[in-house]
Amino acid sequence: MIKVGFIGYGSMGSMLVGSLIRSGRIKPEEMIVSTKTQSKLEDIRKLRENIHVSEDNCEVARRAKYIFICVKPLQVKEVLLEIKPYITSDTNIISIAGSVPMKFIEQVSGAKVTKLTPSLTSEVMDGISLVCHSNAVSEEESRYIETLLGGVSTVKKVKEEDFELAAELTSCMPGFIAAIFRNLTDSAMRQGSGLSREDAEEMIIRTLQGTAKLFVEKNMGFDQMIERVATKGGITEEGVKVFNERLPGVFDEMFRKTLEKRKVVREKVESNLGMEQA
Ligand SMILES: NC(=O)c1ccc[n+]([C@@H]2O[C@H](COP(=O)([O-])OP(=O)(O)OC[C@H]3O[C@@H](n4cnc5c(N)ncnc54)[C@H](OP(=O)(O)O)[C@@H]3O)[C@@H](O)[C@H]2O)c1
Repeated sequence: MIKVGFIGYGSMGSMLVGSLIRSGRIKPEEMIVSTKTQSKLEDIRKLRENIHVSEDNCEVARRAKYIFICVKPLQVKEVLLEIKPYITSDTNIISIAGSVPMKFIEQVSGAKVTKLTPSLTSEVMDGISLVCHSNAVSEEESRYIETLLGGVSTVKKVKEEDFELAAELTSCMPGFIAAIFRNLTDSAMRQGSGLSREDAEEMIIRTLQGTAKLFVEKNMGFDQMIERVATKGGITEEGVKVFNERLPGVFDEMFRKTLEKRKVVREKVESNLGMEQA
């Protein structure tokens, strides 16, 4: 029986469908997917045996109790208005569009609403999924959603007003980490050694993986890690001192910029939702 629907099969939609199936917590035959480009539906059919696909978003709304809306924020309202006639008081919409307020989705659709910020790291069944449920979502429903997402990530419940900052620390973080370590690699290359860029990248990436394991498996905190590696008067300590001096300003500036940008996007989305509503 179909339980879970997906509207939108782009970067996030396809990642969620693929990872949820691989987690084994849902069977392909319990899922139905629709997306805009019809040729993609054929690809989904070929790739994922037994999954239901439809050219019609309304069919997804008619047949699934839980509906993941995986379209861009400016496309959310159009999709909600389209599927609204098929939404019942039992429908639970799971929206991944961070800048669309839950209240708006509730008002337009009449459904129960869960907000989700997934992360690309769920492609390897890791990282954090941020969730927030509206009051209408029952214990049983929230448990079902969190069990599903728990198969592809650690689930963290966050208040809606804290989503933006939390998203910087989770869904944006793979991009930030890549940018930080690309800069570090560039700098290593400028030091004039014979190491190739490829070797330098491998050293950093494998060390990142090992460091993450130490944090998680040995339950080490940041201070403890620094203490273990940066012995007094040693080499690492010199580097750590530079970071401690320079990085607070860099990160403060990063948050200032990203949160400012989120505000601009949120205002644009909210005004677009309001304008179209009138
Ligand atoms: N990328 C991330 O790391 C990330 C992380 C957290 C949250 N998010 C959020 O996830 C959402 C989706 O992002 P994305 O990166 O996956 O975008 P994307 O790759 O552009 O995917 C959007 C999908 O929506 C489909 N679509 C558009 N209009 C539709 C309609 N009327 N009916 C059915 N399907 C429709 C598109 O179909 P076509 O391809 O056929 O046009 C596309 O498959 C956004 O709200 C974003 O803010 C993204």
